[in-house]
Amino acid sequence: MFAVFLLFSRSNAQLSTTFYDRSCPNVSAVVRGVIEQAAQTDVRIGAKLIRLHFHDCFVDGCDGSVLLDNADGMVSEKDAVPNSGSLDGFSVVDDIKTAVENVCPGVVSCADILAIASQISVSLGRGQTWEVQLGRRDSRTANQAGANNNLPSPSGDLDNIISKFSAHTFGRARCVSFKGRLYNFQSTGNPDPTIDATYLETLRQTCPQGGDNNTLANLDQATANDFDNNYFTNLQNNKGLLQSDQELLSTTGADTIDIVNRFANSQSDFFDSFGQSMIKMGNISPLTGSNGEIRSDCKRVN
Ligand code: HEM
Ligand SMILES: *[C@@H]1O[C@H](CO)[C@@H](O)[C@H](O)[C@H]1NC(C)=O
Ligand SMILES: *[C@@H]1O[C@H](CO)[C@@H](O)[C@H](O)[C@H]1NC(C)=O
Repeated sequence: MFAVFLLFSRSNAQLSTTFYDRSCPNVSAVVRGVIEQAAQTDVRIGAKLIRLHFHDCFVDGCDGSVLLDNADGMVSEKDAVPNSGSLDGFSVVDDIKTAVENVCPGVVSCADILAIASQISVSLGRGQTWEVQLGRRDSRTANQAGANNNLPSPSGDLDNIISKFSAHTFGRARCVSFKGRLYNFQSTGNPDPTIDATYLETLRQTCPQGGDNNTLANLDQATANDFDNNYFTNLQNNKGLLQSDQELLSTTGADTIDIVNRFANSQSDFFDSFGQSMIKMGNISPLTGSNGEIRSDCKRVN
């Protein structure tokens, strides 16, 4: 994770850690209960939820826009290229929303549910958490073009991703997201020279050249479902799954090399920085005050 959100972060005095203390004091416990339940049948649910928050925040800010379905005058972000067939966890968000509405109707936004769910997901993955800032409201619009343009590509070069950060210590990726590296890296006809040879062999077995693009591989080979700093050790061993990940270390002279090495050496350093990054990401242009609305169904505007 690289906390370089300077471009995006604005100070938002409106968000606060105590926002629901009086209006919905038990919201965190309710969200946690639903996620724990879902995790019993889907080890990946935490990864799905934190990614939803990321894909929400990077498109017009953290406003729940990613959750809106197609409707009259509504072109869903779910069908944008980075999301389609890949982003998941929507039904669990609906379950969370239902559970929260049962205890505090009309109070907690879908945007805040994603922020709370991200923090809980990291803690369930055994990572250290942060104090979630709350008070976001939900958008009445979606921005599919924004989702196509603003979300970073897995084959993006470092200039593209350095201002963002990488969070791939748990979860899965589809073969289509990294197959190019295995067989025809940047149209060379050869694999990406930075991939460890044994790892390349393993990945080719998982993702044969003409095989199913939707087969999944672990983003973190060492500890697939834990939120930990092994992701950075993988990069040191040339075992990063996505090009955008491995480049953080393998790009000559990159500013990120020192960061990767530091986080590989210190899990607590990594956790501290990650928490700060998540707070910054969660602060991207939220709707507050009387802007937007509190959706009663995360899939549609009121
Ligand atoms: C440089 C920026 C980033 C790029 C290029 C990127 C790209 C990707 C790609 C291509 C996948 C696999 C999707 C698929 O094949 O279906 C993925 C998965 C994932 N991403 Fe990112 N990502 C970035 C940053 C982030 C950030 C900031 C977060 C969270 C804060 C995040 C969280 C995740 C998670 C948890 C998964 C696994 C999801 C699952 O198992 O369903 N990523 N990412
Ligand atoms: C808060 O929610 C949790 C999970 O649903 C529940 O077990 C607990 O009893 C609730 N506490 C209060 C004070 O309502
Ligand atoms: C997999 O995706 C690539 C790139 O999008 C495409 O060219 C190829 O036809 C797909 N393969 C299959 C088997 O669907």
